[in-house]
Amino acid sequence: LFREIALYLTARADRIARRSGLVTQAVGLWSRAMRRRREWGLHYARCHGFIREALADRPVGGTVMVLGSGLVEDVPLDVLAARFERIILVDIVHLKPVQRRILADPRFAKKVQFETSDLTGLLAALDAREPVNGDAAHPIDALVERFSPDGVISAMCLSQLPRAISEKLAQTSVADNEQAAICRSVVQAHLAALARCNGLALLLSDLSYTEISAAGHVLANHDLLHGVALPDPLASWDWDVAPKGEVSGGISYRHHVGAWFWNRPDVK
Ligand SMILES: C[S@@+](CC[C@H](N)C(=O)[O-])C[C@H]1O[C@@H](n2cnc3c(N)ncnc32)[C@H](O)[C@@H]1O
Repeated sequence: LFREIALYLTARADRIARRSGLVTQAVGLWSRAMRRRREWGLHYARCHGFIREALADRPVGGTVMVLGSGLVEDVPLDVLAARFERIILVDIVHLKPVQRRILADPRFAKKVQFETSDLTGLLAALDAREPVNGDAAHPIDALVERFSPDGVISAMCLSQLPRAISEKLAQTSVADNEQAAICRSVVQAHLAALARCNGLALLLSDLSYTEISAAGHVLANHDLLHGVALPDPLASWDWDVAPKGEVSGGISYRHHVGAWFWNRPDVK
């Protein structure tokens, strides 16, 4: 617990991220990743394999931007460092041990830059209880303008983006169908902005999850993208986010993950 409090207090994140529960979630992600090193390792290996292959025939140099970098576990930083001159890691929360680990490694220290950004662009307005403005520039466009990346990787953040938004909306009087539309638009806006990126754009995301009983029966399937349908992925796999024992009642949760070349719809 002391460790978690220290993680919370030393995280690089602004007040809105803290008030939106995103620092608490980042600490939770860290703790669960520690506990589930073995099960999550398989998922990380699949992510690494996809990214490694996608970059294999790319010339060396330039800038890569990782969206939702989090613990920097699902992106193979060594592969990125071998391929790019500069690596921009974007997340709304950067935990201290993640920054420390990366900056202490001479392969990465000079190349990596941590950027704090709300990738939905909506949290500040919602936090101030102002109406959300769908016409504002998308945060990914602003980041692309600033860093001119040659490659962008959306790293397992898509399904997470509507989470804090949906929690904030639940505290307002916005009608349910409008709340759902805003969550859907958060997912769609991320996909549209990713498709606008020049160069390589990779998308890794979970799509849905299955709830499994202690006896191994499927209890329910839940969509994670608010009804937004994606084309068939190039690669897909399961991620045992909460294997048996992680949550009470013997229930387990299995997420279904896909990977795409996002700005090259010709590549199926
Ligand atoms: C499943 S984690 C990503 C895992 C990460 N790629 C890794 O290797 O550990 C989802 C990430 O999305 C980030 N996130 C959630 N909402 C966000 C927002 N509004 N803006 C930016 N990042 C956000 C979280 O902080 C978290 O790090």
